[in-house]
Amino acid sequence: MRLSWFSAVAGAVTANALPTITATGNKFFTSEGKQFFMKGVAYQLTPDDPLVDTEQCTRDAGLMKTLGANVIRVYHVDPKADHDGCMAAFADAGIYTLIDLDTFSTYILPQTPYWNSTQRDAYAAVLDAFSKYDNSLGFFVGNEIIAEADQSMAAPYIKAAARDLKAYRDNKNYRQFPIGYSAADIAELRPMLQDYLTCGGNASENIDFFALNSYEWCDPQTYDASGYANLQSMAIDFPVPIFFSETGCNQPGPRLFDDQNAIFGPKMVNDWSGALIYEWIQEANNYGLISYGPPVDPTAVGSNIEGGFTRKGMPTPVSPDFNNLKTIWATITPSGVASSTYDPKHVSTRACPTSTASGWLVDGNVKLPTLGETFTGGSFTPTASATGSVTPATKTGSAAPSSTTSPASNPASGPASVNKELAGMSAGLLGVMLVFTVWL
Ligand SMILES: *[C@@H]1O[C@H](CO)[C@@H](O)[C@H](O)[C@H]1NC(C)=O
Ligand SMILES: *[C@@H]1O[C@H](CO)[C@@H](O)[C@H](O)[C@H]1NC(C)=O
Repeated sequence: MRLSWFSAVAGAVTANALPTITATGNKFFTSEGKQFFMKGVAYQLTPDDPLVDTEQCTRDAGLMKTLGANVIRVYHVDPKADHDGCMAAFADAGIYTLIDLDTFSTYILPQTPYWNSTQRDAYAAVLDAFSKYDNSLGFFVGNEIIAEADQSMAAPYIKAAARDLKAYRDNKNYRQFPIGYSAADIAELRPMLQDYLTCGGNASENIDFFALNSYEWCDPQTYDASGYANLQSMAIDFPVPIFFSETGCNQPGPRLFDDQNAIFGPKMVNDWSGALIYEWIQEANNYGLISYGPPVDPTAVGSNIEGGFTRKGMPTPVSPDFNNLKTIWATITPSGVASSTYDPKHVSTRACPTSTASGWLVDGNVKLPTLGETFTGGSFTPTASATGSVTPATKTGSAAPSSTTSPASNPASGPASVNKELAGMSAGLLGVMLVFTVWL
């Protein structure tokens, strides 16, 4: 007993020594009172949980530390697995985690959304599994669920998921883990979606952060010619933290990651909390920062080989992308503001957007779906305190945005490009379907 008590205490001292992180106003702060900016990477080696192999995590965490990363985003985890070794390996490297709560079988469907206790319990199990780690930064209730106008009726379900997971978090007396959403960068929907998910005046029903998967900046590029000036104009004094949950356009390549200078530069740094680069592992989509070996025959099968790429082993930097990012991140050290001097009253909640016939279909501050409710068409009931018009939204099935990708500056690499990734879930619906086809 004494021995195990001693080793438990010793373990608690060496691992998980990072300050915890919470959101206030539009910023993240560490428990030491410093503003926290994300320099992150998407980390998903196969569709399976990558946080179960301590040796692999240790190898990857070490090189991520060299890269200058302080956050990983993981799209799929198994709540029943043991994550202690990997979470300690990342904590030792100063790296926090952002975890997607949904799975291939529980994510909110874009066309026929429902939100029920099966989903809530599955998301809660992930929250439970990661609640004990100091380097758990936050959680996503969804990734790129809405990619077309006729899918905007899923937005109240995203809010319902956030509402119920935040209530679960609080009932369990967990830390105030920020719980947010990761959006596809759809020019016609993004402004309404980001405002809708944070509007209505009841923080219990709003997301704690808004994150954007954006491939608008393809090097060489400038702030004014990219879409970032427009993104920035909509992020000024946003009510919750906003950051890039995927970025790193690889057209035409090599990637210079000059957008990091914009995101952390004087025009954006007061409103954004950083960026996660897509992605750690090199695979067929060619977004990798590292590889575990040269490509192999796509039909090859073998341990740790899937889809023509080795998925474990010693990480080797992809040149020149890895060093380009490392060099840029090394020059970026924003100090931000101290929580003791930060006044969150600067931020402003926007009105709930009103619907338009073929655009955003959720009209104002609608009543959120209850747990168990399925969307059966038509419109949602406006609440008594609706800030928008009460004209019912009609569901126009044929409505689609004029473009489903980013502005013209980035014709090739919008979030819906089908070949973007194999393991992650970040290519919108098409990506989801691809993953289903390949892996299930
Ligand atoms: C939730 O919905 C899914 C899909 O229809 C269904 O399989 C599951 O049984 C539902 N859960 C509950 C508790 O009704
Ligand atoms: C805010 O939302 C929560 C969760 O839906 C609800 O229980 C609460 O009554 C709401 N508060 C107000 C003032 O409407």
